[in-house]
Amino acid sequence: MQSVLVTGGAGYVGSHVCKALAGAGYQPVSYDDLSTGHRDLVRWGPLEEGDLGDGERLSRVIGRHRPVAVLHFAAASLVGDSVRDPAATYRANVAGSLGLLDAMRRHGVEAMVYSSSCATYGADAPQPMNEDTPQQPINPYGWSKLMTERMLADHGAAYGLQWAALRYFNAAGADPEGETGEDHRPETHLIPRALMAAAGTLPHLDVFGADWPTADGTCVRDYVHVSDLARWHVAALDHLLTGRGSLRLNLGTGRGHSVREVIAAAERATGRAVPIRIAPRRAGDPAVLVADCTRATAVLGSPPVHTELDDIVGSAWRFMERRGCPSHRR
Ligand code: UFG
Repeated sequence: MQSVLVTGGAGYVGSHVCKALAGAGYQPVSYDDLSTGHRDLVRWGPLEEGDLGDGERLSRVIGRHRPVAVLHFAAASLVGDSVRDPAATYRANVAGSLGLLDAMRRHGVEAMVYSSSCATYGADAPQPMNEDTPQQPINPYGWSKLMTERMLADHGAAYGLQWAALRYFNAAGADPEGETGEDHRPETHLIPRALMAAAGTLPHLDVFGADWPTADGTCVRDYVHVSDLARWHVAALDHLLTGRGSLRLNLGTGRGHSVREVIAAAERATGRAVPIRIAPRRAGDPAVLVADCTRATAVLGSPPVHTELDDIVGSAWRFMERRGCPSHRR
């Protein structure tokens, strides 16, 4: 069985990808410091605890497991934190990625699937955005992801690295079989917070702006089911390992949903009302972000399966019910 190293394998997207990798016959080896990930969500292969900044440890783990490729998820992923403390974001996301690339090169590992983001695009781009949309990030998080994309391209040119930069839109939902899901503490994302407000573990959901230039005045995002993302990661890995060339792809559904539509879906999923409070706009939020995923569908060979918002929000609710709803205090 071929082994692959998954940094951040105990995290939200990483754990779903581990499940998909195991289903495709790979052995996922998770490398995670458990700072935000969960030990009990590492179910499809071994866990190697370690910090991305610890190059020696990374090198030992790579030497021991001899992976054919690395899937790189470990990152500081909150936009707000990146504005408050950019040094921490650049250290984790840029310096951490460079250390990982060094360790891979030392052991001759020549393929990386990288968790990039639609945050690498600018705020004013026409929607939907394709991969040729200019990349002009508006926050340090977006820059850190774009800098790493640049490092991948340069490593490809100089050292022959095969790489895929997968730019997610809004990862959402949970494994339909309930084996893993989203469990951020604290939780900042819309869908889990709307569900927490419905469940009563949040007093209300703040809606960040109701005066945006959109049909109902709230922000529109492209919510893409995490199991679709996971399947596409395996397809991207297979693409790299069969020598079909490096990739930059948008991963979304091509459909946008407003905050109010998400709230309505959370009410249908839970059968309860979501108490809301209209709050000021959140700094750094663009009004609309929707993917043109024509290229991803063509290259990776399959459109998204979970395109209905009710399906996405319902799967998130089932996982939250099973795991226990996080409290806003934790
Ligand atoms: N929102 C609320 N109330 C909340 C939380 C979110 O109204 O309590 C709104 C936001 O303003 C935004 C939408 O819901 O319009 C979605 O917000 P999320 O925080 O769930 O997701 P983001 O769109 O901010 O973030 C996602 C990814 C990031 C990535 C970013 C790129 O989670 O990793 O897209 O813009 F960087």
